[in-house]
Amino acid sequence: MMKKQIALVKGDGIGPEVVNEGIKVLKTIEKYTDYSFEFKDAPMGGEVWKNCGESLPQTSLNIMAQSDTILFGAVGLPDIPQGVAEKAILKVRQDLDLYVNLRPVKLYPSLHDMCPLKPEIVENGIDIAVFRENTESVYAQIGGIVNQETAVNSMVYTRKGVSRIIEYAFEYVSRNKFDELISVDKANVLTVSQFWRQIYQSIGKKYPSIKQTSYYVDAFCQWLIRAPSSIHTVVTENMFGDIVSDEAAYLVGSLGMGASGNINPNGVSMYEPIHGSAPDIAGQGIANPIGTILSVKMMFEESFQDAYLGEMIDKSVEIALEKIRTIDIYSKYAQNNSQINRVNCTEMGDAVCIQIKSVLKK
Ligand code: IPM
Ligand code: MG
Repeated sequence: MMKKQIALVKGDGIGPEVVNEGIKVLKTIEKYTDYSFEFKDAPMGGEVWKNCGESLPQTSLNIMAQSDTILFGAVGLPDIPQGVAEKAILKVRQDLDLYVNLRPVKLYPSLHDMCPLKPEIVENGIDIAVFRENTESVYAQIGGIVNQETAVNSMVYTRKGVSRIIEYAFEYVSRNKFDELISVDKANVLTVSQFWRQIYQSIGKKYPSIKQTSYYVDAFCQWLIRAPSSIHTVVTENMFGDIVSDEAAYLVGSLGMGASGNINPNGVSMYEPIHGSAPDIAGQGIANPIGTILSVKMMFEESFQDAYLGEMIDKSVEIALEKIRTIDIYSKYAQNNSQINRVNCTEMGDAVCIQIKSVLKK
């Protein structure tokens, strides 16, 4: 029996709706395998802030720290001060030292019509993993306002912080037999980027068979829409990673599809869909749960070291998407195709679970 305790941060808006579908997937797996899951709620976000004045209560942080892994929905509400809910996420990343933010982006074969780029540009598909540094740079929150006239945020890079994300990315590339690791920086302007590039080149010497290319972030953003099929593995600093990962995510049709892992390779990690709390559609049951389900897939791969179940969840999502779609991916093409039906959040979760069950029952 493989017992795992999973902390649940359902959060705000559509967070609880999508996390419920993630739990459904976990319970399906529990039924047909040796895994046994214990779920513990770790409330965090805007609703909690309204109730108790804190967006990340210490009790929740303790539950997260003591669990084997964390499944996170979304936090943020339109009627609370800006930054309140966001600070909670940043604090979890800092306190649990979740220094790798892994953001995979993949265009599923049945969703080619959702890609905003011309078909000939994406003939060869899109399959990109962004490794974003997740604890430093401007997110270190060093700065302030001077005399109400000057605002400063410092970009903080440490040798330890830069080295460990680059090493993690090289190891991942080497383990999974990719042939290139692209580094994104702004070394033509920023001293911190020159520091980053030196460390990338020096660690890169240990991986002579992996092709190494450095791009400036502005040029990289251009290549991402010009030739996304040629890009597979990218390592970059915190804020550049925030930006390029949203750009990459939209190439596959909807932010609703995107999954991510906030990973501490030696500790507890947190998996979350990349979309936000989407208050405009909360409570309607129409959110896309695929980003959360694929975050559960990453949980198996990264936290439970179970590539087989990860692959299986991915295949199940792929098969489900051949026939059904939530509203965010229900394109004109889908509307005109009688083989593709529109479903709500729970129906999408059910469909993925049916696929998982049919594979595991054998
Ligand atoms: C993300 C988000 C967060 C970030 C915000 C909500 C703090 O945009 O996870 O990409 O900037 O890291
Ligand atoms: Mg972001």
